[in-house]
Amino acid sequence: MAFTTLVALVALAASVRAAPAAGAVCPDGTRVGNAACCKFIPLAQDLQKTVFQNDCGEDTHEAVRLIFHDAVSISQKLGPSAGGGADGSMLLFPTVEPNFPANNGIDDSVNNLIPFLTSHPDVGAGDLVQFAGAVALSNCPGAPRLEFLAGRANAVAPAIIGLIPEPQDNVTSILERFADAGNFSPFEVVSLLASHSIARADKVDETLDAAPFDSTPFDFDTQVFLEVLLKGTGFPGLDNNTGEVMSPLPVGSGSDTGELRLQSDFVLARDPRTACFWQGFVNKQEFMANSFKNAMKKLAILGNKREDLIDCSDVVPPTVNTAPKTASFPATKSAADLELTCNEAFPSLTTDPGAQETLIPHCSNGGQSCPAVQFDGPA
Ligand code: HEM
Repeated sequence: MAFTTLVALVALAASVRAAPAAGAVCPDGTRVGNAACCKFIPLAQDLQKTVFQNDCGEDTHEAVRLIFHDAVSISQKLGPSAGGGADGSMLLFPTVEPNFPANNGIDDSVNNLIPFLTSHPDVGAGDLVQFAGAVALSNCPGAPRLEFLAGRANAVAPAIIGLIPEPQDNVTSILERFADAGNFSPFEVVSLLASHSIARADKVDETLDAAPFDSTPFDFDTQVFLEVLLKGTGFPGLDNNTGEVMSPLPVGSGSDTGELRLQSDFVLARDPRTACFWQGFVNKQEFMANSFKNAMKKLAILGNKREDLIDCSDVVPPTVNTAPKTASFPATKSAADLELTCNEAFPSLTTDPGAQETLIPHCSNGGQSCPAVQFDGPA
């Protein structure tokens, strides 16, 4: 018996030695799990150099928004003719979908990415959108390193209008839309909204340029989950915009725009179906980042079968190694300003020093004038 086991072990060791090394080595020396992933390495470098500039700034934020708007355009109820999900239709039909009202402002990211269809012709449009979003996110302190699966088929037609949730939508219709698109649970919907931690609006109030959703729009932190729970006190610009409600930090100065709050974030943070999930992310950085990563695994491949795709996660750049901000009440705010509808315990947080309301910097370097790269294009 012992001799048989020994023979089996020796045979196993020999076969392990004889097996070829898994994966492949790309031209730049990087070892990857699959040779088909090598083409994404120069693409990541070009995206960083040309568009994102290793900054968690405007172009990065817009690329993260695009991954959502391309992918969610699919409907189980309406069938394949309504849209193909993560299929690059935004880039392939740039004069159709980007013009839908819910896509207002998406043309910046569409125009940023279209040139890469020509400069990297071996990468499909759906892969380009999702990979660009993953590379973009790697620039944001606190963000997870996203999974990236390659091999999406190109869209054959644009998606129909009406599949992107809008900030004036109620909770029922938002949850139904996500369920119809990809069986997302209410928890997964809230997890995906961690993206609004690095978000600013240009179009909700057209008089404002890059109005932030939280006080730290260059960090993928839990601050947005805290600040959306604070009592609103005013508007950063006009007071009659569709889909906007009062924010707790409306004061701005120069290009430092006051905080803007989406009505959809406000209602999701207070609705019984989602409030505890929302509140549960406050100051839970790792839990929030992991939950976002898991929900993104589903979103990024809508319209595709996981088993048909190649795992190229190893070519997604590691996230920048800077700690994100720990949650705290912005100066002048405290637990007394919270509007909680979930009965679970709320974390004990400090208040930032200062007698005045926090001004939110326009640029990630703290300045008011930041470099941006934008291309003209058909969108
Ligand atoms: C209920 C669902 C959602 C609604 C109603 C919504 C709505 C919006 C609106 C109105 C804007 C501002 C656009 C502008 O005026 O420039 C915005 C920005 C943004 N959204 Fe969402 N969103 C939702 C979900 C998501 C999801 C799931 C993601 C990503 C996974 C995402 C990522 C972003 C990002 C990164 C921005 C900032 C873009 C920038 O700074 O230029 N959103 N969203």
